[in-house]
Amino acid sequence: MDFELARLPALERYKLIIGLVIPRPIGWVSTWNDNGVANCAPFSFFNAISEDPPLCILSFNRRSDGAMKHTLKNIHRTGEYVVNLADESTANAMHVSSFEIPETESEFAKTGLTPAPAKMVKHPRIAEAAASLECKVERIIEFGPERELVIGEILLIHAREGIVDPETKRVSEENYRPVGRLFANRYCTTRQRFDLPGALPGPCATE
Ligand SMILES: Cc1cc2nc3c(=O)[nH]c(=O)nc-3n(C[C@H](O)[C@H](O)[C@H](O)COP(=O)(O)O)c2cc1C
Repeated sequence: MDFELARLPALERYKLIIGLVIPRPIGWVSTWNDNGVANCAPFSFFNAISEDPPLCILSFNRRSDGAMKHTLKNIHRTGEYVVNLADESTANAMHVSSFEIPETESEFAKTGLTPAPAKMVKHPRIAEAAASLECKVERIIEFGPERELVIGEILLIHAREGIVDPETKRVSEENYRPVGRLFANRYCTTRQRFDLPGALPGPCATE
């Protein structure tokens, strides 16, 4: 079965892409708006793409009324933002923070989350998050009126106590329990982890 994307309406392309490219990591972005209201929302067209320089990407479409998402507006205005990483303990708040609310209301207040000061950017991080990446915009690429890609340089990583060993920088598999996005309202945990033996015979073998 083949699907030539140029022949499909955007909604069907969206369904195929978000249904097949799973699970996706979730960048839970926190910002202040220009009236000092703390905003946060999840974005799963998100990933880390480089360590030197340290970069991550986020891709935004429009709100249901066609307006720019509040997060993107705040990023455009300040050139900075915080990407928080959601885990099992914060999954519900992360999901609820995706609901469209007016700019005058805060998703922090709605979900009981706490804004904590970041160190290198002016926006808040989410105190309850497993980890937070303080970012400044490296560049923004527009793909038509509906899509903008924000490439951010990660300046500082804050991790909740117990997530990272400060000496080895190893992340604790026991304590870090991220969730991934599937599609619609569906998510997955990362509970079933497994090893693959090195040097498998066959086409995927490594030297
Ligand atoms: C798990 C999840 C992932 C999402 N990923 C994206 C995304 O990658 N890009 C996007 O534009 N919207 C995405 N959304 C929708 C936004 O979270 C939603 O539009 C939110 O209301 C934006 O808030 P804001 O206007 O305060 O920025 C996602 C929603 C959920 C629940």
